Amino acid sequence: MADDRHAGALVLFGASGDLAKKMTFPSLYKLEKRGVLNVPVVGVAFSDWDDEQMRQHAREAIVGAGVELDETTFRALAARMRFVKGDYGEASTFESVKSALGGARRPLFYLEIPPSLFEKVVLQLHAAGLTPGCRVIIEKPFGHDLASARALNKTLLTVLAEEQIFRIDHYMGKDPVQDLLVWRFANDMFEPIWNRRYVNNVQITMAESFGVEDRGSFYDAVGTLKDVVQNHLMQILALLAMDPPVTAGAEALHDEQTRVFRAIKPLTAQSFVRGQYRGYLDVPGVKKSSTTETFCALRLEIDSWRWAGVPFFIRAGKALAHKATEAVVELNQPPRLLFADPTTPQPATNRLRFRLGQDPGVTLTVQAKRPGEGMVSEPVDLNVDFGRALGPLPLPYERLLGDALAGDNTMFASEEFVEHTWTILDPLLRDPGPVHVYEPGTMGPKEADRLVAGTCCSGWIEPLAPPSDRSA
Ligand code: BG6
Repeated sequence: MADDRHAGALVLFGASGDLAKKMTFPSLYKLEKRGVLNVPVVGVAFSDWDDEQMRQHAREAIVGAGVELDETTFRALAARMRFVKGDYGEASTFESVKSALGGARRPLFYLEIPPSLFEKVVLQLHAAGLTPGCRVIIEKPFGHDLASARALNKTLLTVLAEEQIFRIDHYMGKDPVQDLLVWRFANDMFEPIWNRRYVNNVQITMAESFGVEDRGSFYDAVGTLKDVVQNHLMQILALLAMDPPVTAGAEALHDEQTRVFRAIKPLTAQSFVRGQYRGYLDVPGVKKSSTTETFCALRLEIDSWRWAGVPFFIRAGKALAHKATEAVVELNQPPRLLFADPTTPQPATNRLRFRLGQDPGVTLTVQAKRPGEGMVSEPVDLNVDFGRALGPLPLPYERLLGDALAGDNTMFASEEFVEHTWTILDPLLRDPGPVHVYEPGTMGPKEADRLVAGTCCSGWIEPLAPPSDRSA
């Protein structure tokens, strides 16, 4: 049965770009393989391509992403593809897009183009009469501060309704990130402890073991706070901290995320530490005198009935000791030390660790009796590997493009989300404080340690070693 909400075509602005190559074409292939694409795909770019060259590029992109290519599926995908060459500043480009669409209902326009072009392209789409009934996916970054995000929202909302705007964040397409919701709200056992009475602190770490590589000029204008905190990590924070949504729909989820942000206490320079890895200034495209951060750490407090007094820490950076994205909920220490090892002065805590990047899963650290004489406790891990327990996970863009084609904006950021996150971070953008140099391969500058002083772990909780390095 045809679904009236499903898009009638997908248009990729920026079809010859890096994101399309790395993420979009492999994801479209996967959707085709699952039989859920079902619509024409029109690529738009300034490159001197024809339909065949776009297909060839798509094939190389899919194979290059390590996806096993099956010829029948690829032929079906290639048959959907058309290419429109054009300049986004010219009305004729949008007339060509219109004729390539051939009257398709509810086209989905994906703007995987530089942010400076978002408004221009949307206004051109409108002038060409293509906006009624359409949907538009806007890539990150959505604005570079509160004022610019508000201005972009304002312009978009002159020609589109909020439900037509899909602000994409690939973290929200990651199954292990979505699983935070399922873990919390499909298991009754967690809700009673998910509050200030039981939780001592929450730490979200996004560590990358590589530098900014060939993205020097992009990254130098952005920095860690805008690149991954305002979007990816604030999404994770909201999913960890929010109250249960009243329904499974988009509006209820977005409302609860926003309520978390409303309760966050204003940030100051004291709650923020920035770092820059040694060697960053030599990266091509980076200014020699750059003070852009490649690492940052924040301490946030959510002044709500549920969370008052529980610090939430965020830490992210490049050229760190690990490649891992994790969120750890650390519970309070037991009140008495009954089973102490003489070498352990404090009762150990329970930690619930969500592994959100590679090796996704959940690890709960509990205490068990050490074998042998005496009564001494020792930490042991209860572990779930999602890949092993649940099977292969979809690609984040596969999930999100599928949702956008189907008209489901639940996993996309609302206008309020974007504006609230920029409101929270704006004081840090205005007064970022010094940037501390750190050695590549460490976990950032030691100055960041002061943020976590006073928690029961008395320090940052480091990511788990990859499974190959873990003992059985
Ligand atoms: C992107 C950032 O949004 O996310 C990159 O621009 C970062 O700097 C990337 O490396 C990380 O994504 P993932 O899915 O590999 O964790």
